[in-house]
Amino acid sequence: MEFSEVVARRRMVRAYDPARPVPPEVRDRLLDNALHAPSAGFSQGWGFLVLETETDRGLFWSVTTEPGEADSWLTGMTAAPLLIVCFSHKDAYLDRYAEADKGWADRDESRWPVPYWDIDTGMAALLILQTAVDEGLGACFFGVAPEFIAALRAAFGVPDAFTPIGVVSVGYRRPDAASPSLRRGRRGPDEVVHHGRWSPARA
Ligand SMILES: Cc1cc2nc3c(=O)[nH]c(=O)nc-3n(C[C@H](O)[C@H](O)[C@H](O)COP(=O)(O)O)c2cc1C
Repeated sequence: MEFSEVVARRRMVRAYDPARPVPPEVRDRLLDNALHAPSAGFSQGWGFLVLETETDRGLFWSVTTEPGEADSWLTGMTAAPLLIVCFSHKDAYLDRYAEADKGWADRDESRWPVPYWDIDTGMAALLILQTAVDEGLGACFFGVAPEFIAALRAAFGVPDAFTPIGVVSVGYRRPDAASPSLRRGRRGPDEVVHHGRWSPARA
């Protein structure tokens, strides 16, 4: 698929065919491409938890959602045959930038304009989303609520130093309802792109 088509076609897919698993070679390509994401200082401070068996996926959903009847979002999402939980690893960046060529030996976090560890893992997640489109699959990035993070780590043996920045669900698409957020419309260049000087926002 042309790259421009991948970009144009990508949208978050929230309903999947539970009977069609993601082929292993496609899963591997999603992850290989994620590892080509850029990272500050080439720190690569990320980790990806791949959940494919019904047991593992069930455990993920049980520790990251409230018990009770599933709403339409959860019903669609739990059908995804593949979940990739994307973790950022701040210490890898503090360690990397304490090396001689960077010289931030104090590991002072106030040096960082924004958390690059989260940004880089987010870039890797976008590559997973785009690769899914290229492979004819659907995918959705979604967050893990803060109150479930400790239970998620405990369930899968994830060290405390790794923070789940989000999860990518992947699978073959089934028809799903468009997100109500889309009613906001896509903001155009006249609203968000500023050439030369920061122009006032459109009324
Ligand atoms: C950081 C981030 C967090 C998101 N969290 C969720 C989420 O928790 N649940 C969900 O259904 N979609 C989530 N989304 C998807 C957005 O709702 C979606 O990207 C947006 O509405 C635009 O739609 P599109 O990606 O289909 O173009 C998230 C997207 C991002 C980038």
